This record gives sequence, C-alpha cells and structure tokens, in this order.
Amino acid sequence: MNIAVTNRKGGVGKSTMSLHLASGLATLGYRVALVDTDSQGHVSLSLDLPETDGLYRALVNDEPIEDIVISVEKDAYSPADNPAKGHLFVIPAEDKTYQISSHIEQQPFKFLNFTDDLKKVLNLHFVVIDTSPTIKDLDSQIFMATDGYLYVSEAEKLSRHGVEKAIKQMSGLVNDRVRHLRRPTTVLGVLPNKVRNTDSHIYNLEEMEAAYGKYMLDPIRLRTAWSEASVYTETLFTYAPTSEAAKEAWRMIQQVVEAVNAWHQTK
Ligand SMILES: Nc1ncnc2c1ncn2[C@@H]1O[C@H](COP(=O)(O)OP(=O)(O)OP(=O)(O)O)[C@@H](O)[C@H]1O
Ligand SMILES: [Mg+2]
Repeated sequence: MNIAVTNRKGGVGKSTMSLHLASGLATLGYRVALVDTDSQGHVSLSLDLPETDGLYRALVNDEPIEDIVISVEKDAYSPADNPAKGHLFVIPAEDKTYQISSHIEQQPFKFLNFTDDLKKVLNLHFVVIDTSPTIKDLDSQIFMATDGYLYVSEAEKLSRHGVEKAIKQMSGLVNDRVRHLRRPTTVLGVLPNKVRNTDSHIYNLEEMEAAYGKYMLDPIRLRTAWSEASVYTETLFTYAPTSEAAKEAWRMIQQVVEAVNAWHQTK
C-alpha cells in the first residue's frame, strides 16, 4: 500500500511523522520504503544518510532501483531491545527533486509505476511518501500513486485549512484513479500534532473532530523529545524509547495499521 503523509501547510510534522510511521512499521515486521519527495531532503537529514538525488535519478534517468535505494541499518531507527523485524529502505531527495516534474510531465503515471517497481524489486508491504508543503507539478503524480492518506495537522486554523485544501486536491483525483487504474483511495487518518492544553487548541481539536469524525487519530502532544531526537539525528524509538512521545508515536502507528486492515477488508 502507498501512504502519503501530507498537508498543504508547512512545518506541521509531515517529515517527522513519515519517518516514525515508516520506522514503526519496519520495527513491527513490515518491509517499508520511505520516499522523500521534498527537495529539502529531510528524510536523509533525519537519519544521517548521504544527501543524494536518488528520486531524481530513478524518475528522470531511469536508474535501477538497486542503484538508488538506501537500506537503513536497524539500529538507526528501531529500539536496541526490540530491533526491527522488518526492513526500512529510503529513497532520498535533495535539491534536484524540484526539477523532476518538468522532465516527466508527459508521463503522468511515472511516479505510480516507480512505486509499483519499488514494491516488486524490494518486496515491500508499504511505501510511505513524505510530501512537500508547496504545490508542485509532481503532486498529481504522487497523489495518483497514493492509496491512503495520513493528514498531519496542528490544532491551528491555518493547519486545518491546509488539510481541507489537501482533501479537496485528493477528492479531485479519486474518480480518476478508479476509472484509469481501478484503485480506490482511502483516508487512513487525520493526525493532530504538537497539541497543547490551551483553550485554542482544545477548540481547534473539537472543530477537527466535527469535520473529520471517525478519521481522527489520537493527538500527539508538543514534546521536546521530538525535536531533541531530530537534533541528534535519531528516531524517538532509539533516542527515547520509553518516553510519552514514543508511546504516542506507537499509538499513531497502531491506529494506522488498524485503518489499513479495515481498508483491506472492504476491498
Ligand atoms: N509533536 C511534536 N512536538 C514537538 N516538536 C515537534 C513535534 N512534531 C514535530 N516537531 C518538530 O517540528 C519541526 C517541523 O517538523 P517537520 O519537519 O516534520 O514538519 P514538516 O511538515 O515536514 O515541514 P515542511 O513543511 O517544511 O516539510 C521539527 O523540528 C520537528 O522536530
Ligand atoms: Mg517536511
């Protein structure tokens, strides 16, 4: 299954949650590729991997997957006392990523085909796609490839608005996907992030509950462990595996797995 982690708003935690979702799924036993589609290259930075233009080389130069994929060591993302039972791969992005769309605009299914190849070659269960906040031409290709969406949102008005815009963008493609590809699309969850116990956050959470009801995942609180782990280029699962923040991350992963299982049953 291809999962896009998205919001039209910047800085809400898309890359952080992509990294932890992919790491958590790999820890549980799944084979996962984390695809960075943002030229900021945050996935490589977060895991201290070399910053290379793997996605560009795969999509524009048609280089084989074996040559561009990075296989991540288990101790880089999973707890020492619970090493990953599955496997995490990364497809890295960097500066050149923003040029990709102009090279492949005549091939609207290029990104989709790439994710299909990834799954075949690496024998994957999941492709987790970290998206960029800016509207780019590559979006329609990424969203054409997406089976399930995880929307990350702060409990703030602008962030909620970013989710609304992203959902509108998705809705425009859902029918096309079924018509052309016979692939249905689902929402795996709306994840409130960086939540504090302030009146305004409580109000915004209620508004989100009213708008997204059953799709709402348990909130992830604003906690320093998240940014500290990122400063030390670690995941929470290696940096602070017993922290409240790590517990909340595991809850998110569990809820996404439940949503995936429910989706498989309806297919
Ligand atoms: N729950 C949290 N508590 C505290 N800090 C957090 C939390 N979630 C994310 N952060 C921090 O917020 C910052 C922004 O997160 P991140 O880079 O994941 O956002 P993004 O949506 O990917 O941004 P961009 O739109 O630039 O791609 C990072 O420094 C990250 O460590
Ligand atoms: Mg990001």
